[in-house]
Amino acid sequence: MTSPPRPTVAVIGAGTMGHGIAYVAALAGCAVRLTDADPAQLERGMALVERAFATAIERGKCTPETRAASLARLTAAPGVAAAVEGAGIVIEAVPERLDLKRRLFAAIEPHAPGDALLASNTSSLSITAIASALERRDRALGLHFFNPVPAMKLLEIVRGDETSDDAVGRARAFAAALGKEPIVVRDTPGFATSRLGVVLGLEAIRMLEQGVASAEDIDRAMELGYNHPMGPLRLTDVVGLDVRLAIAEHLHATLHDATYAPPALLREKVARGELGKKTGQGFYRWENRP
Ligand SMILES: NC(=O)c1ccc[n+]([C@@H]2O[C@H](COP(=O)([O-])OP(=O)(O)OC[C@H]3O[C@@H](n4cnc5c(N)ncnc54)[C@H](O)[C@@H]3O)[C@@H](O)[C@H]2O)c1
Repeated sequence: MTSPPRPTVAVIGAGTMGHGIAYVAALAGCAVRLTDADPAQLERGMALVERAFATAIERGKCTPETRAASLARLTAAPGVAAAVEGAGIVIEAVPERLDLKRRLFAAIEPHAPGDALLASNTSSLSITAIASALERRDRALGLHFFNPVPAMKLLEIVRGDETSDDAVGRARAFAAALGKEPIVVRDTPGFATSRLGVVLGLEAIRMLEQGVASAEDIDRAMELGYNHPMGPLRLTDVVGLDVRLAIAEHLHATLHDATYAPPALLREKVARGELGKKTGQGFYRWENRP
């Protein structure tokens, strides 16, 4: 049986998530265009995709032939218009700011095919609000990937108020093509994943502030006591403290629940540029930063 044709995928934003999404899509047989507003970030993102293939080969998860074929399908596009032209799926992975994502969607629409899926990788923002800038809102939805994208099985599909059944069906097919397991969640703040996950992360930071235990021991409590693969502080480092802060601020403002109020320690660390793994310092020191 032959597999269905793969859509051409445009990924906007080549940071932590964008390069990972580009990697899994290229590996799955999609033609991929990756772009970023910052040329240095685009160059770095392309290098990180290459590094991901090297790691996959080392781990026996990919052959040199597959790497060569996948990289031949991947191009660095000079801007949004070039990236989305002829694309079947556009995925934005720019910073967690509603104004930025709305403006980007509006800039994408005139250049993308009329039936292309327009997806946001937002962790918490309203898909309906991001899509409000579009003429055709039925094809907009959330495709929430997890970090690191190659390893994490989940794809959270977020259905905005106007998202069509057809768009959700195509998103499910895309998840299957990437080897991901989809869940479908109504457009509510933080969806299913961030709304639950952030509670644990913020409470762990408050416990650290209160001197309940060291970062290592708070993480070990969840790793060994609850079988979480990674403790909440280490996970916050991997996600990025700035990313977590933006999510917490949004959830606090929209759910009106003090549980989501960002702790002072999180704000202080972000202000100092201690953003976690990507800067080499968060709750831990990271030697092998990307
Ligand atoms: N980091 C995570 O663990 C994680 C997990 C799931 C979802 N997300 C979500 O994914 C999105 C991206 O997060 P990230 O961690 O990859 O951020 P990041 O800061 O690593 O990367 C964002 C990239 O977007 C680029 N950018 C900024 N404005 C742009 C524009 N107008 N056009 C094109 N590129 C632009 C930046 O130069 C940067 O390279 C956010 O919405 C975040 O909430 C993050």
